[in-house]
Amino acid sequence: MFYSSKIFNGYTMSEKIETIVILDFGSQYSQLIARRIRECNVYSKILPYYTSAAKIREEMPSGIILSGGPASVYAPKAPKCDKAIFTLGIPVLGICYGLQLAIQTLGGKVTRGKAREYGKAELRVSEKDKLFKGLPAKLQVWMSHGDKVQKIPAGFKKLAETGNTEYAAVVSKDRNFYGIQFHPEVVHTPRGKEIIKNFCSICGCKGNWTMASFIEQNIKDIKGKTGKEKVILGLSGGVDSSVAAALIHKAIGKQLKCIFVNNGVLRKGEAEKVRDVFAKNFKMDLTYIDAETRFLKKLAGITDPERKRKIIGNEFVKVFEEAASKIKGASFLAQGTTYPDVIESVPIDGNPSSMIKSHHNVGGLPEKMKLKLLEPLGRLFKDEVREVGRQLGLPEEIVMRQPFPGPGLAVRIIGPVSKEALTPLREADYIIVEEMKKAGYYYKIWQAFAVFLPVKTVGVMGDERTYENVIALRAVESMDGMTADWVKLPYDLLETISSRIINEVSGINRVVYDLTSKPPGTIEWE
Ligand code: XMP
Repeated sequence: MFYSSKIFNGYTMSEKIETIVILDFGSQYSQLIARRIRECNVYSKILPYYTSAAKIREEMPSGIILSGGPASVYAPKAPKCDKAIFTLGIPVLGICYGLQLAIQTLGGKVTRGKAREYGKAELRVSEKDKLFKGLPAKLQVWMSHGDKVQKIPAGFKKLAETGNTEYAAVVSKDRNFYGIQFHPEVVHTPRGKEIIKNFCSICGCKGNWTMASFIEQNIKDIKGKTGKEKVILGLSGGVDSSVAAALIHKAIGKQLKCIFVNNGVLRKGEAEKVRDVFAKNFKMDLTYIDAETRFLKKLAGITDPERKRKIIGNEFVKVFEEAASKIKGASFLAQGTTYPDVIESVPIDGNPSSMIKSHHNVGGLPEKMKLKLLEPLGRLFKDEVREVGRQLGLPEEIVMRQPFPGPGLAVRIIGPVSKEALTPLREADYIIVEEMKKAGYYYKIWQAFAVFLPVKTVGVMGDERTYENVIALRAVESMDGMTADWVKLPYDLLETISSRIINEVSGINRVVYDLTSKPPGTIEWE
């Protein structure tokens, strides 16, 4: 077989990984589709719906998926894709809006349903087809649509229906087009992953996207890009920067210069742990900067959450720049940016995009420092980042660490940040993490942490009256931090955490549990 030396996504043709392109029509589920495909060991890439067929062809995808979306195909500003996509000779799967758009584009008819169909439905498969290979004739699927297909274009065939939807799955063999009205990517379609896997097989994919091949390829890539030059990386101890550090270190060893800034609002034992793992075990070149006094001075008396964030962000840039300027001859700045950070979001009419909190803590660093960016994890989802970390030998404690905000404990102290608040908060947080781990909850949920409340309440301990501060316990489950449910922790566990905090943490005499989901609450209190 002939292979050209052209580079695709950083891979030469001979190493080309199988890719399925997802055209995003503003669906809340596009990233889920991408993840499900990757679970089938096929690489997936999300592109905006208006990407031209020529540009898509350059990606050399094995298949294309048209996502769902909030619009109606009849809306005046309905997002449309390049029609030439249907003539590329590449298998296409339309999901929900993607199906309706294809039907309308190819000469069929879509109408507004009498009522929205939302929730579980029973799919009755009438036609044995590769898309439903290995699946029973009846299966549960998840529906979420207002419009539906009324008439299919010539050359199309019905594959399945539900009680409310005649064309719940269709195919056009000539065009190699498949369409489904339901959502195979969500957990409420329990066998959806098999349908996605079947589509990958229809696309001829064998499944060559693995984290082992990713690591191997990226080590070559990083070596090629950096040559003999030095790379600076701000290590926070979080999953992303830790895995980026481990990967780059494996590629270029001591050419990687890590900087760890203690900003005074870290958790108990955190600075020691990072030095232990990265400097001692991995033998990385790690500069540790104790900037606690500097940060706490700037934060003194500040109560507004956004001002706390800005102060910490700005101060971090200053401290980091000072440390980086001492590293002579560095030309790259490495960041642990992951795929969800780089996916171009598509503006669809009516989509909310208001900003609740400013989460960008180190914005503007590369431009200011005139360094080239190195973002080796830019193609990975979080679960893939964790797997890479594991394969590179990082301890489970780091790989599975719960998210921790850049502004740290500063946004978990309501009111001004002070040592008097930080000390009990650190102790309470430590107890929570320890007990959550013991009970097997820590790795199952998104986050569990303590919040320090600047109110004092009366208590009685022994025969003595106490008048001390309150700690709020927050524990949430979430897929991505965008929405979250509070966790129904067992009473026994709540009791243990509460009594340990009150007995062991001086200055705290009351623990309360936060019963707010997101929305309407946010995960952090500030
Ligand atoms: P919220 O509080 O917005 O949090 O519901 C969603 C997720 O983001 C984390 N978070 C932050 N992370 N800088 C960060 O790096 C921040 O300023 C910040 N604020 C919140 C939060 O811990 C949760 O996982």
